[in-house]
Amino acid sequence: MRVHVALTPAEFPGLALEDRAAVAVDVLRATTTLVAACAAGCARIVPVADRAGAEAAAARYPAAEVLLAGERGGRMIEGFDLGNSPLEYVSKRVAGRTLIFTTTNGTEAMLHARRAPVAAVAALVNVAAAARWALDQDRDLTVLCAGERRAFSLEDAVCAGLLVGHVLAEVGSADVTDAALAVLRLGEHYAARLDRLAVECEWGRHLVRHGQGADLDVCLRLDTSPQVPVFEGGVIVPGPRVPHPAAAQERVR
Ligand code: MLT
Repeated sequence: MRVHVALTPAEFPGLALEDRAAVAVDVLRATTTLVAACAAGCARIVPVADRAGAEAAAARYPAAEVLLAGERGGRMIEGFDLGNSPLEYVSKRVAGRTLIFTTTNGTEAMLHARRAPVAAVAALVNVAAAARWALDQDRDLTVLCAGERRAFSLEDAVCAGLLVGHVLAEVGSADVTDAALAVLRLGEHYAARLDRLAVECEWGRHLVRHGQGADLDVCLRLDTSPQVPVFEGGVIVPGPRVPHPAAAQERVR
């Protein structure tokens, strides 16, 4: 198995994904929000690049079913129905709905990940479940880190590192690139101190400064959801609910 991690969007266009499983990561906050939306029973999520793309996509679905969702600069886009806080995505708001979704960094990673034959979405909240999904695909793996304004983001690299760690724990040895090895070491360092990311990563500090600190409490939690959103036909749908290995063990006992 070959494992690679694309640390910034600059690498996305050049990624060979034809025979790979791809996983998009944007811990703060887009992919955490999508796990919440899928866990809350949304019908599907249509990632788009911008407002124009959102309006075009919305026209393809029954108006009563569609919600426009997303942010720019961390704030809900004017005229949209939802922002990008995972706390907004509750079943009474999104169950059975089609979410047309655009964010600053996360949706670009999703739009590239879907070039792969199989693709999913991961964050800290579902990282063990997403690793299980990647292993079940029985393919080489590429993780796409959304980053922050096209630059490296610490929280995405840590999440990618924890995911790679779970995969290597299962397969034993694999052909990992330097980027995958580097994030693996980062994941090992932060595994027991994820709360530090609230102060040590730039976007975490931005969110706190702008009164969105409550989102960090949700986003920086490990394995609180068995939900793995997956791509089907170019859109994201609620995927397999993969119980955490520890929970699975419990049941055996
Ligand atoms: C993004 O996709 O850029 C982030 O999720 C932005 C945010 O936290 O709203």
